[in-house]
Amino acid sequence: MNPVQLNAEELEAVQEWSESSQTLAREIIGRYPDKRSAVMPLLYVSMLENGYVTADGMSAVAVLTGLTGAQVQAVASFYSMYKREELGKYLVSVCTSISCFLLGADDVLAAVEDETGVPDGETGTDGTFTVEHVECNGACGGAPVVLVNYEMVEGVTPDKARDLVQWLRDGGPDVVNTEEMQKLFGGKKSFDWGVNETEGAVLPVPAFGPYGSSKKVTRWSS
Ligand code: FES
Repeated sequence: MNPVQLNAEELEAVQEWSESSQTLAREIIGRYPDKRSAVMPLLYVSMLENGYVTADGMSAVAVLTGLTGAQVQAVASFYSMYKREELGKYLVSVCTSISCFLLGADDVLAAVEDETGVPDGETGTDGTFTVEHVECNGACGGAPVVLVNYEMVEGVTPDKARDLVQWLRDGGPDVVNTEEMQKLFGGKKSFDWGVNETEGAVLPVPAFGPYGSSKKVTRWSS
């Protein structure tokens, strides 16, 4: 499907967006027979722009999809991966669902909280870390699972979780990549992923599919 052309109202709604985000939005809308179906990926595009879903971002998505602002807000507030406030440079998510819980996820979460100095559900004052616990990530065989900006690390012990936090703090990588973190801090994996993931994440936006967040120049890049 070809990228759609935006009309004057739509162009005005996204005038603050970068050219690459506008192009991405046009491509995404072109994939769907009904543009309202593009609401979820477009919310990610708005997150690429601002790091989280802003009121202006939701308004822009409403114009692009023809949905009401309330409908867009309902989607953005229902799904936990749409962040509604500014996050730290690294969103550290610890799975605490049953498989990870049984293999020590609470201790992993406690180690992350202690090492970052950031309680679960909060962002540190220096803007480096946001810590959260999350539900099952579908990698139960590799429990306990930790994600950094949604890049997964499996088989993480409390000590390795501390090492991971120190590595992030001291090295301050602009891009995090699951392959690298798994080698450095992971343990048993749920299964062989089969492909090398070359993309990495710079924001809590999926670094795959149309988003490819490591390709994007962001506020974190020096
Ligand atoms: S319970 Fe943690 S990945 Fe499934």
